[in-house]
Amino acid sequence: MSELNLMYEGIKFPNHIHSEESLRYARDGFQVRDDDVFIVTYPKSGTTWMQEILPLIYSNGDLTPVQTIPNWQRVPWLEHISGKSLLEERPSPRLITTHLQNHMLPKIFHTSKAKVIYMARNPKDVLVSAFHYYGMASFLEDPGTFEEFIEKFLEGNVLFGSWFDHIKSWWPAKDQDNFIFLTYKELLQDRRGTLVKLGDFLGKQLSSDTIEIIANQSEFNNMKQNKMSNYSFVPEELMDQKKSNFLRKGIAGDWKNHFTSAQNEHFNSVYAQKMKGLDFPYYND
Ligand code: A3P
Repeated sequence: MSELNLMYEGIKFPNHIHSEESLRYARDGFQVRDDDVFIVTYPKSGTTWMQEILPLIYSNGDLTPVQTIPNWQRVPWLEHISGKSLLEERPSPRLITTHLQNHMLPKIFHTSKAKVIYMARNPKDVLVSAFHYYGMASFLEDPGTFEEFIEKFLEGNVLFGSWFDHIKSWWPAKDQDNFIFLTYKELLQDRRGTLVKLGDFLGKQLSSDTIEIIANQSEFNNMKQNKMSNYSFVPEELMDQKKSNFLRKGIAGDWKNHFTSAQNEHFNSVYAQKMKGLDFPYYND
């Protein structure tokens, strides 16, 4: 186990922003409110994107929050060491991020009316994005070669645990009224339509002008310019964006530029085996 990591309930977390205490607080100490709104993602699935969109929906398209507050303060991670202080006293509705699997949230969360936006991404693109991210962030373990990283990813021997376990832990909630399942690809292909869907889910009447403002601000190249969202505040010793930008490519299907056909076949067969029996209609193509 690398000294950069913390092992908690069989899952590896980067220990510069997580502690046993913060993870315990996320489940046992945090008081969920019915009007909380959670962004739930497995890392590298579009978390930062949602952290741009959600505050803009709640500000009715006023850009002030996304232009003045860093994403990690705007929509804080529940499980981070800073989660408690950033969230406990915050007025409702609180916008909250989590990478945790479903069972790691407070018991009351499961019976509350808190809303959940689950954002999923093709796991092969998640893997590629994570590989580059691990390579540029000095506080994350070394990814090894791409071939090695594929194995680690398939075994769940990566930060935040297995992608498969994450999806499987959240998918059963998909039919609840307080849950919406979105994909990175649909947001990429139809940002405006997805924003309307999201607004309806959140009970927000968004005018077409507001939709336009949000769609524009959350466009990849515009977000890349936003200092409050592109992690350019983080010193180069921690995140070397010369190696790879945090907002790197922002496309679907980049895995095709990385996987050999043998690696792809291998991934597909493990995917089929791990997802067997789950009525999960999404792709990994
Ligand atoms: P890539 O590395 O494939 O470019 P997270 O925020 O969960 O860590 O996810 C990061 C990934 O989401 C990165 O993927 C990043 O570029 C992508 N992303 C962030 N904002 C985006 C946007 N506005 N449009 C498309 N992709 C975006």
